[in-house]
This record gives sequence, structure tokens and C-alpha cells, in this order.
Amino acid sequence: MIEKQLNDFLWWQKEIVYQIYPRSYKDTNGDGIGDLKGIREKLDHIKDLGINVVWISPIYPSPMADFGYDVSDYTGIHPMFGTMEDFDELLAAIHDKGMKLILDYVPNHSSSEHQWFKDSRRSKDDPKRDWYIWKDPAPDGGPPNNWLSVFGGSAWEYDETTNQYYYHAFLKEQPDLNWRNPEVKKAMFDVLRFWMDKGVDGFRVDVMWHMIKDEQFRDNPPNPDYTEDKSPYDKHLQAYTTDQPEVLDLVKEMRKVTDEYDERLIIGEIYLPVEQLVMYYGDNNNGAHLPFNFQLVLIPWKAAEIKAVIDKYEGALPAEAWPNWVLGNHDQSRLATRIGTEQARNAAILLLTLRGTPTIYYGEEIGMQDVHIPPEMVKDPQEKNIPGKGLGRDPERTPMQWDSTEYAGFSDKEPWLPLMENYKKINVEQEKDDENSMLSFYQKLIALRQKELSFSNWKI
Ligand code: NOJ
Repeated sequence: MIEKQLNDFLWWQKEIVYQIYPRSYKDTNGDGIGDLKGIREKLDHIKDLGINVVWISPIYPSPMADFGYDVSDYTGIHPMFGTMEDFDELLAAIHDKGMKLILDYVPNHSSSEHQWFKDSRRSKDDPKRDWYIWKDPAPDGGPPNNWLSVFGGSAWEYDETTNQYYYHAFLKEQPDLNWRNPEVKKAMFDVLRFWMDKGVDGFRVDVMWHMIKDEQFRDNPPNPDYTEDKSPYDKHLQAYTTDQPEVLDLVKEMRKVTDEYDERLIIGEIYLPVEQLVMYYGDNNNGAHLPFNFQLVLIPWKAAEIKAVIDKYEGALPAEAWPNWVLGNHDQSRLATRIGTEQARNAAILLLTLRGTPTIYYGEEIGMQDVHIPPEMVKDPQEKNIPGKGLGRDPERTPMQWDSTEYAGFSDKEPWLPLMENYKKINVEQEKDDENSMLSFYQKLIALRQKELSFSNWKI
């Protein structure tokens, strides 16, 4: 075993990543929705925790059918979040504090309102036609094959204008881009360059394992383990829609683009079994720097299961691949709700002492819990389309709780999602001076991690 010195590690191997869901962090313009100025205002909260890397979920222009994961302009800023000037100021403030900024990059699909798609759907001869995935109807007029959408129903949407279907792995408002088309690649790689030219330090790549689909459009086979309590999407095994061999080549090409710049980071969002997940590191680490490791989110919270998953993951890592661990995000029930407040502390110890880069979802540091959302207040399209199965993601996306005032110091107007009932107890202000609070716990734990190198096991 070779022991390395701290200096031998790259920034993203030494730091902790903090995910901000921008609609819910801090509202400064009184519309009940968070914004870029709000994030800037709260940077010291993150810095004081000892965290130096911020990942912000999408802030681009978007009709918000999937709350920003439906991008209508990849190189703009949604006015709801601010202006490009606000963005530049935020980035400068982050860098001034010696911190790094990771943006969300959503390459698998655009919004149906993106100009590219508007052109594409106009006619079969449009130069942008092949930028998306179009197919003739099946002989009976139905969808071209059995592929299902993650958000319910067929993944094919019929478009009258040209009498063809287009493919959307998520909402029909999120048509999949055709990454087999070299022009798409060029345009989307230029998007990465645009943000890197500005100084952005890396990207979290949305649904990386979805980006290429079977060229022959074969039907997916049934999933023998499907049960009615699951999402209808799980009726099939995604044999031909995700994790296709060519996607790994694409990830390597993406990496070449970020390698044109100094030390920029690629994090891949990938939900796959460990053996398949680690393939995304590439050969000799020429793929994603950090294919997100969601194992701790997915397993039952039992000591034996946790041990098994850690051993398995460590065992599967390719030589010199850098591990990473995640406990929560904007798509998963909050930690304290999933495993209980006391266990949430144990989980934090684990996260912050395991070898590798940890990612913390905003609010976990104060012990935020899922918020019950009454049916009439549901915003998430996944819950709207597939109600009652516990798939809704609003509960973990509620406003950050800063203090005990009317709207928890998040906004001076009613927020877009309801606040947790006990926000007057669970908030930054309250917890700051309480040495037994979750916030103090995180603070001490992170300080210890930064001081004692053995806690993050900086050895390979
Ligand atoms: C994964 C994102 O994390 C999720 O929030 C989104 O709905 C889907 N990708 C579609 O972009």
C-alpha cells in the first residue's frame, strides 16, 4: 500500500461536496423561490461548516416541467434565479472564498421548449431533425416499441406534425437528445466549454447512464422481480435503454473536453449495480472522476448490509479510482426520515470517515426531515403521474430552515413548498449555539476529518 501525502491529492479528493437545490436555499427577491443572490448570501454557512465545494442543481432557463431538469437554454440563467451577472458574481464570491463550483449538466434531454427541439419537430427535413430520436409508428399506429418512461406511461410521444413519435425517457416535455449525432455532441460539448471558460470547476452529469439507447430499438424484456408496489417503469429491465456499451465511449469523450482545462471535475449520476457503476471510471481513469455511489442510499440501514456494501464497492473499484459516498439528494427521502435522527448521526460519521469524497445534501447538516405534502400541494411530476407509491420528491425539496421567523428565514413570502412543522426547533440559528445539535455535530465531525487525515483514509 502506498501512503500519499495530502499535497499529492487533487482538490476534489480532499473536499466535501454540498448540494444546493436552488429553488429551496434562500429567496432574496420575495417570490417564495430561492435564487443565486440567496446562495451568495449564505456561502459562509457552508464555508463555516468546513465545506469548500458547492454543487447547484439546474439554474438554466426552463419551463420547470421537471423543476429545471428540462433545460430550454444551456448557456443562460433562468430569470427566477437571477441574471448572468448574478451568476458571475456568485462564482467570483465562491472563488474568493477558496471554494469551488459544480454545475448540473443535463445532456440526456432538453426541454421541448428548447429551440433545437422546436426546429426538430417542425419537419422531417429540418437540419435539427436528427438531433432528437424520431421513429415511425408501429404497424398498428402505436408507439415504435415497448420502452417506458421513468415518469409513467410510454416513453414515446406521437407528434402530429410529422406523423412520427419522439423518445423521452422522462416527461414528454423532456425529449431525449440523439447523442449518436456528431452535431449534438459538438453543441453539447461546447456548452461544457462555455461554463468552463467562465471558471466553473466541474459538472454533475444528469442520468449519465441513459445517454445512448439501442441502435436497433429492441423491446426491453419483462422484469421477473416486478411487484405492483413499484413504479410501472420497473415492469421492464432496461436492457436496451440504459447502460449501453457506447455510453462509456461517450463519457471518455466528455472527459477529454474537461481535460482541455485544468483540474475540472466530472461527477456522473448513475444508478447501477456496483460492477456496472465502476465501469464509468473508464480505463485507467479516463472516464468520470466520480461516478456517484448511491449504495448507502439504496440498501436497508442494517450493519451487516452496510459492511457488505462497503466491502463490495471497495473491492470493485479499479486501480487508483477514487471512491465517493452519498447519503441523500433531491430525489431521495431525507436521511433523518429514512433511518431516524439518531442513526442519521451514525450515517454522518460513516460518510465523513469512509475513504473517498462525500456529498452532503443541503439541510442534512441541521437534521431536516421529509415534509408531508398534501395532495393538493404536490408539485413533483413524478408524484402527479404515479401517485400514491411514495415516489414524490417534494418532501425532500422543502425550503432550508435558517431561523424561527415566519418563513424560516428562507423568504418573506409563502414558499413554493411548505416548511417542516418543527422548523422553529430545527434551524441554523437555533442549532448554532447548541453544542448537542446536529449542526454542531456536523461541524465538529468535519473539523476532525480535516485535521486527522486518517479519518478520510487518504491512502491508496
Ligand atoms: C435525475 C435528476 O436528479 C432528477 O431530479 C430528474 O427528474 C431526472 N434526472 C430527469 O432529468
